[in-house]
Amino acid sequence: MQSLIKFILNNENIIYSESPSVRLLDWLRDSQKLTGTKCGCKEGECGACAVIINGKLINSCLVAMGSLCGANVLTIEGYSSTARFAALDMAYASVSAVQCGFCIPGMIMASECLLAEKNYPTENDIRTAISGNICRCTGYNAIVKAIAIASDAVEYTVPPIRKRWDEVMDVKELAPTSLYDALELRKNKALIPYSGGTDIMVSGLCSQNSYFFINNVSEMRQIISDDKYIRFGAACSFTESISNPLTPAILKEACKQIAAPAIRNAGTLGGNIANGSAKADAALIFMVTDSLLRLVSANNERILPVKDFYLGKGATALADDELIVEILMPKHGLDNYYYKKVGARNALAISRTSFAGIMDIENGVIKNNATAFGAVKDIIIRLPEIDKKLIGKTIEEAKAVKEVYLEAYDEAIIPRPGRVGVEYRKDICMNLLRDFLDSNGI
Ligand SMILES: Cc1cc2nc3c(=O)[nH]c(=O)nc-3n(C[C@H](O)[C@H](O)[C@H](O)COP(=O)(O)OP(=O)(O)OC[C@H]3O[C@@H](n4cnc5c(N)ncnc54)[C@H](O)[C@@H]3O)c2cc1C
Ligand code: FES
Ligand code: FES
Repeated sequence: MQSLIKFILNNENIIYSESPSVRLLDWLRDSQKLTGTKCGCKEGECGACAVIINGKLINSCLVAMGSLCGANVLTIEGYSSTARFAALDMAYASVSAVQCGFCIPGMIMASECLLAEKNYPTENDIRTAISGNICRCTGYNAIVKAIAIASDAVEYTVPPIRKRWDEVMDVKELAPTSLYDALELRKNKALIPYSGGTDIMVSGLCSQNSYFFINNVSEMRQIISDDKYIRFGAACSFTESISNPLTPAILKEACKQIAAPAIRNAGTLGGNIANGSAKADAALIFMVTDSLLRLVSANNERILPVKDFYLGKGATALADDELIVEILMPKHGLDNYYYKKVGARNALAISRTSFAGIMDIENGVIKNNATAFGAVKDIIIRLPEIDKKLIGKTIEEAKAVKEVYLEAYDEAIIPRPGRVGVEYRKDICMNLLRDFLDSNGI
């Protein structure tokens, strides 16, 4: 299905009418000859292709053109005429932060996004901001220094981003703004829902499939709270979830450890659940908090515990006419939590094993005890029948049944073979579980 996609590129109005599944990176380089945006991995891992979309750092290799309706896209070419670029350019040159130069356009875009947000970043802020940008030459220290120098050189205030096209365009065809229109499109079985695209665009099949784009559906972009639940719109990005004051600390902590800024800016909570992966870090938190999913189709609406959503490896209970519209997280008893993600490195590491635990203790009595283990089996492990053994007990009583509790988990956790050894994974799980109990005095 073809569609007119209107957006702004480097301050120019663009009307795009080719396939919505084309990658922004390919279109920029091949069709627009904007080759300053580099192609490294096409998997979101290197940051060489980073551009700024609506003020956020995004890897253009993970963006399908159809998701750009109404967006404002800035590439290194558009940015290079600004005073802010000149300051970064001079700073990078002054400390010889450029060697082969391949990573530098992406680094500059990451630098701009950081400095637009924070005038005087710490070294840690800088390293976090460029954590998704790989440089094979410099060893990073000179780049970090350059960004610090640039932050002193220019008064960084948020740059005027041109008005989005929203008001003037008719984007209903493939990029609906209302849930009603999205659900009408969902009836078409040939179209796959595309949210942040960070899973879809690395699947290798992206150009062969047809999508409709749910990243502009307003009902799916909000985080609100009612008496019982914090309600997360499924199309909220990790970055939006981290910055929202309603988001509980346990979810913020998990989202902060996902990938690197450009992935966190695009990847969504709904996509993290819908992909059916046992390694999904936000999904782990929705499991341990016994959250519910609001699944909606044009003709029906149902609420399903997230635990019942997962049926097997990559298989979910999502009907082919449904969307995950909201995730409902129970509000209470979330403060006393434990979360650990074990990966190969700090940034851009998929979990080798992850663990989340919540213990709600009132007047010395355990009111709730919930644990979940990620990346161990085909689906995230959540075993309330074992966790119940500690509920209703005082800490002293819990200590008395601690070994029985641990033995039950020892029997239940049978990691599937994978790149990481089965015994190693099992040991991590049991160590994290013990640590969780220790942290609660059990
Ligand atoms: C470099 C890199 C690093 C990553 N690191 C991590 C990590 O550390 N931890 C982690 O958990 N993940 C990681 N991911 C995976 C990915 O970013 C997340 O799974 C993300 O949440 C996917 O969301 P999305 O919106 O981009 O999904 P999309 O790619 O848009 O969609 C994924 C799937 O979900 C479906 N879908 C999306 N939204 C909905 C909805 N609302 N209703 C129904 N179906 C829907 C789509 O049809 C598709 O099948 C990484 C990815 C990359 C490329
Ligand atoms: S080309 Fe490597 S992140 Fe896009
Ligand atoms: S300067 Fe060569 S990759 Fe960074």
